[in-house]
Amino acid sequence: MDYDIADPSLAPQGQLRVEWARSRMPVLASIRERFERDRPLAGIRVGACLHVTAETANLMSTLRAGGADVALCASNPLSTQDDVAAALVASGIPVFAIRAEGADSYYRHIRQVLDLEPQITMDDGADLVTTLLKERPEHRPFGSTEETTTGVIRLRAMAADGVLRFPVVAVNDSATKHLFDNHHGTGQSALDGILRATNLLFAGKTVVVIGYGHCGSGVAARADGLGARVVVVEVDPVRALEAAMEGFAAMSMAQAARVGEVFITTTGNIHVIRDEHFDVMKDGAILANAGHFDVEIDLPALEARSTGKRRLRHELDEYLMTDGRRIHVVGEGRLVNLAAAEGHPAEVMDMSFANQALAAEWLAGEGKSLAPGVHRLPEHLDDTVAAIALARLGGALDELTDEQARYLGSWEMGT
Ligand SMILES: NC(=O)c1ccc[n+]([C@@H]2O[C@H](COP(=O)([O-])OP(=O)(O)OC[C@H]3O[C@@H](n4cnc5c(N)ncnc54)[C@H](O)[C@@H]3O)[C@@H](O)[C@H]2O)c1
Repeated sequence: MDYDIADPSLAPQGQLRVEWARSRMPVLASIRERFERDRPLAGIRVGACLHVTAETANLMSTLRAGGADVALCASNPLSTQDDVAAALVASGIPVFAIRAEGADSYYRHIRQVLDLEPQITMDDGADLVTTLLKERPEHRPFGSTEETTTGVIRLRAMAADGVLRFPVVAVNDSATKHLFDNHHGTGQSALDGILRATNLLFAGKTVVVIGYGHCGSGVAARADGLGARVVVVEVDPVRALEAAMEGFAAMSMAQAARVGEVFITTTGNIHVIRDEHFDVMKDGAILANAGHFDVEIDLPALEARSTGKRRLRHELDEYLMTDGRRIHVVGEGRLVNLAAAEGHPAEVMDMSFANQALAAEWLAGEGKSLAPGVHRLPEHLDDTVAAIALARLGGALDELTDEQARYLGSWEMGT
């Protein structure tokens, strides 16, 4: 079978959305132009496990323009856009992904991509590499790329355990990825997901952001901009202090659970909202997760404590507690921006996926000689991506004078 998707007839609608995203992705377009000319991926098989969105479709076509044979499966059961999957299949790219698929189908699709014996793999969360390492000991790609913070943490743990037998490029570590995608992308799109599911007014609400890292600081800033009273929960004193100096209230989760009206987890950690917090939450509390896995809110514990559950709206579930309080969960506790909205806007995915395309090119070239382990893309590529994106925003850069460059390079700096 060369694809497994929900409905091939959705292709025309998906094509239009892919085209719209493409018009907002100038950095990737400039890489595509060069790839068409130079074909740096000629004959290379790329297996990708990424959110199947309109932006990802543009990454796939860019890799193909570079000469790669690409195949795609989903990196989350609830993030696939079925019309985009259909558009990709119509354009001749194998896709194995169906929105709201169960765990069996999700992993069967990952294995179908691995059956193509990819020489480069691309991950968002490291599920493809994990499955490969566990189940295909004989298969050794040139290397892999990883999109997100949680995936990089998993890969570093694999490297520390000595099981990672090929190089992986941590795309998330590029400045033009995490400073923009995680911060501005998740900041905006996590709220977009909550708004689409609830149509809530943020102004005047107490919004608790749990985890004030690259994603959480973006979510807090956007909630603040909408007029919410923002509370931040952190375990890292420096990040908690940063939040406090931005004007947010830093609290423990035990304190925040009692005052919050909307809770958004962005930690990449397990059970940050759990039974003792459900017990003290206000009636009507709304919970959403923007971290990679659906483990941040302990949903089995919430299920166990509730007497009933109703789906109120698209991606909005109400849990009825024994004392009559209602607790709401958006997007089944999965990445709220992808489950309840369309994921990050194309403008930030442009930079993230420019890094992915450059990482694939790097692995296919000099990267082939990299040692097994987790690597960063060379820093000059960050500068290239940033300069193109800045120019497309109408911004300009200044340059050091020769005198200034000499001054910064010397140690005799006084007068
Ligand atoms: N929704 C999306 O589209 C999207 C995009 C990028 C990243 N992510 C995911 O979001 C998560 C966060 O990514 P990031 O780049 O912000 O990571 P980060 O490391 O910059 O931030 C995570 C923060 O959470 C804090 N934290 C950890 N455990 C905590 C706990 N129990 N209570 C309170 N705070 C805690 C850490 O101290 C840290 O400051 C990851 O799972 C990442 O993969 C999602």
